[in-house]
Amino acid sequence: MAFKILLTGGLGYIGSHTYVDLIAAGFDVVIIDNLCNSKRGVSDRLEQVTGVPTDFVEADVLDKAALAQVFTDHNFDAVIHFAGLKAVGESVEKPLQYFQVNVVGMVNVLQAMQVAGVKSIVFSSSATVYDPIQPSPLNEGMPTGYANPYGYTKLTCEQILQQACHADPDLKTGILRYFNPAGAHASGLIGEDPNDIPNNLMPYISRVASGDYPFLRIWGNDYDTPDGTGIRDYIHVADLAAGHVKSVQALLSREASHLVNLGTGKGYSVLEMLNAYSTACGRALPYEIMPRRAGDLATTFAEVGRAKQLLGFSATRGLDEMCSSSWHWINTGAKLVSPDG
Ligand code: NAD
Ligand code: UD1
Repeated sequence: MAFKILLTGGLGYIGSHTYVDLIAAGFDVVIIDNLCNSKRGVSDRLEQVTGVPTDFVEADVLDKAALAQVFTDHNFDAVIHFAGLKAVGESVEKPLQYFQVNVVGMVNVLQAMQVAGVKSIVFSSSATVYDPIQPSPLNEGMPTGYANPYGYTKLTCEQILQQACHADPDLKTGILRYFNPAGAHASGLIGEDPNDIPNNLMPYISRVASGDYPFLRIWGNDYDTPDGTGIRDYIHVADLAAGHVKSVQALLSREASHLVNLGTGKGYSVLEMLNAYSTACGRALPYEIMPRRAGDLATTFAEVGRAKQLLGFSATRGLDEMCSSSWHWINTGAKLVSPDG
């Protein structure tokens, strides 16, 4: 019988792409999501992409009774926990909300797993947990730190998972530190569709390309990088999705818990990203140089050896594919999504 996986936050950007890969790999999957940053219609899109009815339950990870019901209704073998809030600026304004959703939400999921006897969980962490003074490439053995409440919640969740494993040696965890997700599914039917104005580079550039915003504001061109703009490790969301399948497969094979970076090991500057997107959409996208954004680093990119060694994971898709798939999504799927669904 197929393994059954619970995806929390599975209608969101990374969750929806991971869902498609899990179905293709033969898993049974149930999604829960409270739709605070996604739309119900994504569930229909997933059906179109996979050809399989989507098992979606509208539920909040803060609702313990609803969680308990989902675990009663299904016999899960593992959980992949995406549900959470991710806007750094908002986390500074509303830290308590971030502690509640990201930390308490994950603890609720762990408690529901404990009651149901589920022993494997994959967790969405972030490169933001590295101590900002560490030089790139960032490797998993480097010291951690945080610069804002969002980063604090990710680091705290990692530590809670490690302590939960210590208390229960049967519990296996896959902690995945994502670098900068970009791109969309090749079908053009699912992609990043934030409910608010995006803070991150790629979704913002895509809205400049679509004409929703007049130009990109580049936060600083006086960094110590070849063109002066910030360098990041952008990873195609389809590669990230593949990383989750490998992670959950390793846990279900009862391999040891793992903590790995998911990145490409290569960095691109803001101007390189903008140029690549301009090529993809067929016009030079306008920009203005602004002062640096508070808290930004000049350069971050991943050391990718551990993910390769432990999971056999390597990203395979390049910058052009990230930009062209994003543009395809903006021109097809994103236009079909109504505000409520
Ligand atoms: P997303 O906002 O697109 O997806 C998160 C999903 O969780 C959304 O569908 C949202 O409606 C749902 N959700 C939020 N709170 C919930 C709650 N209380 N109960 C149930 N569902 C809830 O974000 P994403 O980019 O897909 O990110 C997924 C995870 O990966 C998040 O935990 C995020 O912090 C982490 N992450 C994202 C990035 C990134 O740049 N996208 C980088 C590193 C880590
Ligand atoms: C940001 C968050 C980080 C989080 C990550 C993924 C901050 C300080 N850091 O990181 O905690 O883990 O997103 O969610 O918010 N840029 C522009 N103009 C824009 C947007 C971005 O020039 O409109 C530049 C940035 O200055 C940076 C690069 O593009 O050099 C990437 O920015 P972004 O996509 O926000 O990612 P991170 O800075 O890596």
